Amino acid sequence: MDRRPLRLHWTDRHATGVRPVDDDHQVMVILYNDFSRAMESRASPVCAAGAFDILAAHIRSHVVREDGLLLHRGLILPPQRRIARHDFRAIADIVHASLNADRDRPAAAASLRDWICEHLSADHALLVPRPSDEGLCCRSSALPSLSMTAHTPV
Ligand SMILES: [Fe+2]
Repeated sequence: MDRRPLRLHWTDRHATGVRPVDDDHQVMVILYNDFSRAMESRASPVCAAGAFDILAAHIRSHVVREDGLLLHRGLILPPQRRIARHDFRAIADIVHASLNADRDRPAAAASLRDWICEHLSADHALLVPRPSDEGLCCRSSALPSLSMTAHTPV
């Protein structure tokens, strides 16, 4: 049985140093915690579904925005990110099935918690590279860099 807490806590060690990405990630953590509270509290499935829809919309828009930033920085998206997106769709199906049947809510929330943790870790590895991280992505010096200050947070 998974005994890890369902709540997530943003700390500086999650920061990538790319402000728009970090801002999005912090909102993701807040929205996820709202969702997990609704899942744990046995609130109406409609409430939990609403919290999930808000979170899912944020995640989808974040991924599109983030991929654009990464491409402009000359980072070619590694295959793991495409797999992660597929996994998110699978987790969304798990959450909806859980809410429709009104069962297994903690397990569904834990799946989403794990996806978010993996996403934050992958982004950190991608944007705060260390020598040991080589291979997670490919850099292309032919692509222009993007000024991150030009981004307007949503
Ligand atoms: Fe991200």
